[in-house]
Amino acid sequence: MEICIVGTGYVGLVTGTCLAEIGHRVVCVDDDLAKIATLKRGEMPIFEPWLDSLVARNRREGRLSFTADLKEGIETATVIFICVGTPPLEDGDADLSAVEQVARQIGELASAYKLVVEKSTVPVQTGMWIDKTLKVYGGGGDERFDVASNPEFLREGSAVEDFLHPDRIVVGVGHPRAERLLRELYEPIVRRTFTCPIHSKCVDARSVPFLVTDITSAELIKHASNSFLATKISFINSVADLCELVGADIALVAEGMGLDRRIGRNFLNAGLGFGGFCFPKDLQAFVKIAEKCGYDFHLLQEVDRINQSRISQAIKKLKNELWILKEKVIGVWGLAFKPDTDDVRYSPAFAVIGRLMAEGAIVKAYDPKAMEKARQQLPSLICCRDPYEAASGADALVVATEWKEFAGLDLTRVKSLMRRPLMLDGRNLFDRQAMKAMGFEYLGMGR
Ligand code: UDX
Repeated sequence: MEICIVGTGYVGLVTGTCLAEIGHRVVCVDDDLAKIATLKRGEMPIFEPWLDSLVARNRREGRLSFTADLKEGIETATVIFICVGTPPLEDGDADLSAVEQVARQIGELASAYKLVVEKSTVPVQTGMWIDKTLKVYGGGGDERFDVASNPEFLREGSAVEDFLHPDRIVVGVGHPRAERLLRELYEPIVRRTFTCPIHSKCVDARSVPFLVTDITSAELIKHASNSFLATKISFINSVADLCELVGADIALVAEGMGLDRRIGRNFLNAGLGFGGFCFPKDLQAFVKIAEKCGYDFHLLQEVDRINQSRISQAIKKLKNELWILKEKVIGVWGLAFKPDTDDVRYSPAFAVIGRLMAEGAIVKAYDPKAMEKARQQLPSLICCRDPYEAASGADALVVATEWKEFAGLDLTRVKSLMRRPLMLDGRNLFDRQAMKAMGFEYLGMGR
């Protein structure tokens, strides 16, 4: 099928590349000329496993191309995915101006039938607005456009894998024509008939659940899923605080809870809380949408409050040991909002660093992938070449992101480099008993 992807951010680039990978012809459009030039040079604007090799191969084989010209992009496409950014406004609402602008332009430029699919995370009822916009600016009656919602559930660091082997595909449609096209589009993934670039053998023999709903329900599924996962994290973090008060271990509590199949072990890792460009923003947007529709989503406001308090909790732990933070040297391991990504947006590590710096501490940081982006965001940060340098001369070391490589370090060397062997393990990466046996003053989260 002929596909156009508008917006080559995280979601757009992964979606476009993976759709090309399963055999479609995809044109990716972005009005950021520098980004299009980067992609045309074969460079990646983001780090994501598998993405660079898949982009290169699909371009070489003629299924994937990039352009800054929307008219050219949509010309031959039957299905157009809107994947532009929906950043948060001051009041937590999502800024939908880019979505509206693209819908308007598609309305004006399209000369034949188009199925316009919203893929960006958008508030409920955006589909209805896109539909109206297409018709107002496109004219031509009701038959020229269909609108559908097809939320993405891609995790950074495993987005290609998540796209090609999803738990489910959700499509919200208003017309059987749209359902037919989207079924055809996703058939290789649903039936697992494509040659997987990641696994030589198929990971699962069953077909992927393909859920067809109305547009509004599909829009809600996205926000409700992310908010539910965020709730799980804040729940376990609250239990972690209780563990500290009563002398229990959150890792064991989470294990015991997670063995119940109704609960599951995923997203029960206590620590510094959730960050990234999705959870915090989607949660706030969901609260806002509910408020606008007349529902007070108090539960989610509390989830957000608990998450923000994780940072104060971590600082309090440090202060309990160090008393005064001013002029203390603090090493920080990890800057990305989670492992396997270079993304530092809304990273809990940055929130901790901001608080430390505000109190006058000297922060030395290291991250395996996110140093470049961290430097751009916080030029005054002391960036170290490796984790040992970050620990050197430190009065305390904070583990802010649970990168696997930290677990394999020579901890005896780390301890000998530090001024005081105090570790605040904000992600419960290390074994508490083993750290203590090694002579560290070890502080975990909920243990
Ligand atoms: C998320 C959703 O998972 C994905 O479906 C959606 O479409 C985009 O947002 P992502 O932001 O990549 O993906 O990160 P995810 O792996 O979900 O983690 C989010 C945050 O929660 C991270 O900061 C992570 O460290 C934190 N987290 C996760 C915890 O603190 N504890 C956990 O148990 C799990």
